[in-house]
Amino acid sequence: MTTQSADIIRPGACTGQIVFVAGGSGGINLGIAQRYAELGASVALISRSQERVDAAAAEITSRGGIAMGVEADVRDSAAVLQAFEKVHAAYGDIDVVISGAAGNFLAPVIGLSTNAFRTVIDIDLIGTFNVFRSCYDFIAKPGASLIAITAGQAVRPTMFQAHACAAKAGVNLLTQTLAMEWGPAGIRVNGIAPGPIGDTEGMARLAPNPEITERLKSRIPLRDYGTKSDIADLAVFLGSANAKYISGAILDCDGGSILGDASADALAPPKRN
Ligand code: COA
Ligand code: NAP
Repeated sequence: MTTQSADIIRPGACTGQIVFVAGGSGGINLGIAQRYAELGASVALISRSQERVDAAAAEITSRGGIAMGVEADVRDSAAVLQAFEKVHAAYGDIDVVISGAAGNFLAPVIGLSTNAFRTVIDIDLIGTFNVFRSCYDFIAKPGASLIAITAGQAVRPTMFQAHACAAKAGVNLLTQTLAMEWGPAGIRVNGIAPGPIGDTEGMARLAPNPEITERLKSRIPLRDYGTKSDIADLAVFLGSANAKYISGAILDCDGGSILGDASADALAPPKRN
């Protein structure tokens, strides 16, 4: 029987916060934006498609939240700067910046063109650089919380994922370097490394059928995928005063996946001779 407490994040906890979500039209990042909005924040969703961010923002506002959508490709530094200008003009100083735009697919190195490799580096790493580099004039100082959405591939070589491994490794070191450079201005910079999260485009691409899904789950210490709300709750925590002494951390939210393959059944060990 569980004795875990219920949700400890109180209603209205994020009232007054301004949250900028790069890559916010869907998936995990939209889940973060939805949670912030439900808790009272004003959220701005950024993606390559005005139509998609408008639809996502409309869904949030239909539930009483405050949201706007801005089209910008994170690979385009001028477009990212304009997005910050628009959001700042609408809402004022930004409290939380999420850099979560990413592209990924399964491919062995032999199947990657230079452009394919570069495309993922451009979206994930250059995109995070553009988002973090551009935000400085538009964020609350002191107090802003910058959060990169990274991945376990950053620290764990993963076959068919060389492009994502290289990109997210760069994201981790960029995040931690910025935490050093901007800490004195009262800006915290952290990363969240989700493990496999159910009902996402990422896992639809990496585990495209039920057999692979079950095999992957059998290797996770906690034996299941995570949910978008698992990641959203961690992002809300990192954006809060409760996390005011956390900077430069890459927090795994992955059911223990980063520890390695836990498929052996240690609770039913073989009999000793
Ligand atoms: N295997 C190998 N190469 C691939 C590939 C695959 N599955 N998918 C795309 N590429 C290559 C393309 O062939 C192209 O290289 P080329 O010019 O040498 O032919 C290069 O990658 C760029 O593809 P393109 O479709 O022009 O890029 P894009 O900027 O329009 O889209 C992607 C970016 C490829 C990452 C696309 O999958 C995307 O938009 N992803 C966003 C959603 C996503 O990935 N979600 C999961 C996040 S974890
Ligand atoms: P997703 O739904 O595909 O989300 C990616 C988002 O990025 C979309 O909103 C997409 O919107 C946007 N985007 C892509 N390219 C962009 C660009 N060039 N400029 C601006 N926006 C762009 O994927 P997800 O699975 O939820 O993943 C979200 C994040 O979590 C990613 O950083 C991913 O690496 C990380 N992650 C996911 C998992 C997982 O299990 N899913 C595990 C580890 C890490 P548009 O297409 O509208 O532009």
